[in-house]
Amino acid sequence: RDDLVVLGIETSCDDTAAAVVRGNGEVLSQVVSSQAELLSRYGGVAPKMAEEAHSLVIDQVVQQAVENANLSENDLSAVAVTIGPGLSLCLRVGVQKARRVAGTFNLPIIGVHHMEAHALVARLMDKDLQFPFLALLISGGHNLLILARDLGHYVQLGTTIDDAIGEAYDKTARWLGLDMGRGGGPALEELAREGDENSVKFKIPMRQHKDCNFSYAGLKTQVRLAIESRNIFTDKSSLSSESSHDRRVRADIAASFQRVAVLHLEDRCERAIEWALKIDPAIKCLVVSGGVASNQYVRSRLHHIVKKTGLRLVCPPPSLCTDNGVMVAWTGIENFLVGRYDPPPPANEPEDFM
Ligand code: KG4
Ligand code: ZN
Repeated sequence: RDDLVVLGIETSCDDTAAAVVRGNGEVLSQVVSSQAELLSRYGGVAPKMAEEAHSLVIDQVVQQAVENANLSENDLSAVAVTIGPGLSLCLRVGVQKARRVAGTFNLPIIGVHHMEAHALVARLMDKDLQFPFLALLISGGHNLLILARDLGHYVQLGTTIDDAIGEAYDKTARWLGLDMGRGGGPALEELAREGDENSVKFKIPMRQHKDCNFSYAGLKTQVRLAIESRNIFTDKSSLSSESSHDRRVRADIAASFQRVAVLHLEDRCERAIEWALKIDPAIKCLVVSGGVASNQYVRSRLHHIVKKTGLRLVCPPPSLCTDNGVMVAWTGIENFLVGRYDPPPPANEPEDFM
């Protein structure tokens, strides 16, 4: 395993990321180029613009990752790349680059599922994390509760019936006039610290549904109505001259939104733990990963829930929760080691093969 060295490439959304990881889990390099300026200016991701931004930096990001690992492409054992789910235009940039590198240096290639990578990266940082485990995956596009029974063997206990929690964070942040440069989540988490989380009464989603599914569309609507009814400035240009009262109102909405958004996660996790232990009593851990799992409030609330059940909470460090190349390289390694990979593509493959 120590001889295995895998390059991971991730371009499914707005981050262009690459990393080199050794088979024993040692991270040799990690490079992320984010589209903060575009996100900040447009308040979200537009696929065509994101594709262009990926294309502009992909060669440099991959080169940096290889150089920072003190290696050359010749030292690599394989290339892993996210093939979905994600924005197809963006995924294509990563896949083409991966096939170019793999073709030129005669390396096997491993197609990686983005959400599997979010879950499995927990096994890189916690070598004691064995299958089976339960995983809550919370990102901009997905909300999943997964029972990971073995590598490639996943049982879905719950998913979102409309929006994911990250989408709710992003919209709430945008409506509150916050900076969207790192996605809306981090700015909203910051503003929420100043607010009273019990001040605005939002309804907790799906309490009457005794399952493990999620819904955030209704909460989004509640937040939008709450903002509209309060008559406060929420456009960025006016915020510098906002009164302390208005700031307080915005912080109260942020904190109240966050409380209810996370209570919904807590509800679902409690039930999922119950279900999962019935299916497989050997489960010892709940993994929480995906961009929203970098949120400190989310982490501490879930820690509390999990402690009561006797399970262990495994939460990767924030830099491995948000999109990154390490999780892709690592998932490539896990799959490579059980023989799941494709042979090297032909050298000089035409760019428009797909
Ligand atoms: O996993 P990820 O990086 O990309 C996707 O696969 O979607 O997740 C991005 C999402 C965005 O919605 C972003 O606002 C959210 O994760 N996020 C956060 C925080 N950091 C990132 N949400 C809440 N609090 C945070 N600190
Ligand atoms: Zn993600």
